[in-house]
Amino acid sequence: MRAVDIIAAKRDGHAHSPAEIAWLIRGCVSGEIPDYQLSAWLMAAYLRGLDRSETAALTRAMAESGRVLDLGDLASSAVDKHSSGGVGDKTTLVATPIAAAAGVIVPKMSGRGLGFTGGTLDKLEAIPGLRVDLGVDRILAQAREVGLVIASQTADLAPADGKLYALRDVTATVDSLPLIVSSILSKKLAGGAPAFVLDVKAGHGAFMPTLARARELAQLLVDIGTECGRRVVAIISAMDQPLGWAVGNAVEVREAIETLRGGGPADLRDLAITLAGEMLQLAGRARSVAEAEQAARDALFSGRALERLGAMIRAQGGDERVLDEPDRLPTAPVQEVVRSDRNGFIAELDARQVGMTVTALGAGRERKGDPVDHRIGVVFHHKVGDRVDTGDPLFTLHLADPAQVAVARERLLAAYRWSSEPVPYPAVVLDRIG
Ligand code: URA
Repeated sequence: MRAVDIIAAKRDGHAHSPAEIAWLIRGCVSGEIPDYQLSAWLMAAYLRGLDRSETAALTRAMAESGRVLDLGDLASSAVDKHSSGGVGDKTTLVATPIAAAAGVIVPKMSGRGLGFTGGTLDKLEAIPGLRVDLGVDRILAQAREVGLVIASQTADLAPADGKLYALRDVTATVDSLPLIVSSILSKKLAGGAPAFVLDVKAGHGAFMPTLARARELAQLLVDIGTECGRRVVAIISAMDQPLGWAVGNAVEVREAIETLRGGGPADLRDLAITLAGEMLQLAGRARSVAEAEQAARDALFSGRALERLGAMIRAQGGDERVLDEPDRLPTAPVQEVVRSDRNGFIAELDARQVGMTVTALGAGRERKGDPVDHRIGVVFHHKVGDRVDTGDPLFTLHLADPAQVAVARERLLAAYRWSSEPVPYPAVVLDRIG
């Protein structure tokens, strides 16, 4: 086989055989196929598309391009969870301890924030001492002992995705459904869980800006995951406004802890219970949605989920006293309350604008490898549907430097759209596929 022939075939709209795709991915990982040929193939695949059988073959080849975790006897109770990424999305920190407390084994590989979306690893690293680079043996041992582990993707899992994703990022080929699906699922397959729950976000603050596009992505994820022998459910959830009240790393951990204590924002709690309920059903721990969600609520309101998060933090070297004393989390030296200068109903709170602002202030990274400031963020006091009067607190800025206040205030105020008429509270769970 020659790379040039594979590129030409895709350029001319022909379908690849699984053997051709496997050869391409082997050449990608070994370095025998140079980046310029891989980039040309990615662009051809972006423009011509990949059919279902090509997408499944690509997913398998990428998953098998490195080590595939063997969960052994844990596999029957193991369920992984993945979010397509959003703003204020700390759901993993709430849903996975709930699922683990209700008997699911959760061996989860998470990512870092990039662009305007946050990442679970950055949030977790706001907890003093907590480590996420665990290596395969520790991941397996902790999954057995604690039932919950959230670690960084190890370099030897799905290495083809690391290479192809970096090329996609600089060749304008990220936004392709088959390439996104194979990228996400190859990492899930390599993680070894036989089942996963996918949280596909729809809206301004998500990869998929509309419900229709999110449904398309969710359906393809479920179809290809199923074709690769896994049990997969996708929940489509709203990401037009930030999830919960907090956006930033330490402030989101604080909010996740409050939620695991039975408080916290209703949208975060509802979504976490839905996702944990799906995880329970996939693990065979509940026979119906109602039974699963009741078990998830019991795990949350009994405090068992908080206790699981504490066990995970301890096992990963973190200071679990943050659960009782959240002031041990990094705290911003500047905390400024911004008040409303108008009366009305909040009609929109643009998640993308919020995410971009908080990232630019230092809570996220513009480029891979940039440092993040865990102290930085914003906590909203009102969201879409709320009525606000002049002088009411709108949001609190958490900043490193008083010089950031004016620009942060102005950019966040620009994220609002107001109405003089009542605005309905938006639903957070929009659809379920699988
Ligand atoms: N997340 C991934 O892991 N891969 C993509 O291609 C897009 C989102």
